[in-house]
Amino acid sequence: MLRAQISRWGEPSAVVELIEMESPAPGPGEVRVKVEASPIHPSDLLKCRGLYGYGESVPMPPFWGGVEGVGLVTDAGADVETPRPGERVILARLDGIWGDELIAPASGLTVLPPELDPLQGSMLIANPPTAELMLTDFTTLEAGDWVIQNAANSAVGRHVVSLAKHSGWRTVNLVRRQEAIAPLEAHGGDVVLIDGPELATRVADAIDSLGGGALAKLAIDAVGGDATARIAGCLAPGGTVVNYGLLSGEDCRVPARLIVFNDIRLQGFLLPRGLKTRSPAEIAALYERLLGLAMDGTLDVEIEATYPLAEIGAALDHADRAGRTGKVLITP
Ligand SMILES: NC(=O)c1ccc[n+]([C@@H]2O[C@H](COP(=O)([O-])OP(=O)(O)OC[C@H]3O[C@@H](n4cnc5c(N)ncnc54)[C@H](OP(=O)(O)O)[C@@H]3O)[C@@H](O)[C@H]2O)c1
Repeated sequence: MLRAQISRWGEPSAVVELIEMESPAPGPGEVRVKVEASPIHPSDLLKCRGLYGYGESVPMPPFWGGVEGVGLVTDAGADVETPRPGERVILARLDGIWGDELIAPASGLTVLPPELDPLQGSMLIANPPTAELMLTDFTTLEAGDWVIQNAANSAVGRHVVSLAKHSGWRTVNLVRRQEAIAPLEAHGGDVVLIDGPELATRVADAIDSLGGGALAKLAIDAVGGDATARIAGCLAPGGTVVNYGLLSGEDCRVPARLIVFNDIRLQGFLLPRGLKTRSPAEIAALYERLLGLAMDGTLDVEIEATYPLAEIGAALDHADRAGRTGKVLITP
């Protein structure tokens, strides 16, 4: 079987290599899974460059690529009752997800309904719960409240729009290019604006033009740098900026006057930390709810391209490009 390994830090397509491995029979409690699809996320690219994590949490090469995906069970150890061959399972926290097949412990695998599109199923683990927990863990939102976010045309951003709408909250969505506006409006974004100068005035005007209401008390920031300052300046006094991404590569900047006089807070979000505060039953309920929303089409990720495993370098280059209309996936 083949697996994509990140051999050293550097430009993603230059440091990825396919390694040929033995394909053992699944042992007791194990299954063999043929990988069907796995997305390339911004965090995967950061990991290749040695820019993901802090201190001891930075993954050191060599490491295997891919954080989530789906696959079909093709063989099961003699004692395994579930999942059975032919069933589609979610892959996460496993080595070799960017690979053509892998051996996994059967006990940790969730079976997906066959009706769910496998490409959509491959992107359920990281981004949907990130959007959900950022909306719920930092502020208490009431019906009609506004939430503002940047990088709003990302997969997480689109989930924020869908989940907010589902709960009766309204969204101001910031993007960095004109062509991203119409698709996000069609997706349900109440207000979509280009991030940049005079943002606070433009956001307040847009909220006014839609019948007013209080300014947002929650801002969701994936960009950092001056974008954090701009989005923080759009908040009502006492509001919270939740930063969850490093897209600009710059440290978050929040002006001291906003912190002192408007009581604006800056907090970080990391999914594993958000999940750690929950019991296994709560986590299972969270994912069950998100799976239901993926099944009924509420959560739907745009896909720009799929690549075979043999072209993983080209796939990484593509995923690294600005101006994509959707995700890039490996479909071995
Ligand atoms: N903290 C956590 O636990 C957690 C969990 C999941 C995801 N994330 C983070 O969530 C963010 C979005 O992930 P995703 O998978 O949803 O992304 P994605 O679908 O792959 O889309 C990437 C987005 O980033 C935008 N972007 C890239 N560089 C930018 C910059 N310098 N300034 C402004 N926008 C920029 C792109 O805009 P264009 O379309 O204009 O190119 C696009 O909207 C990433 O930062 C990821 O690491 C964090």
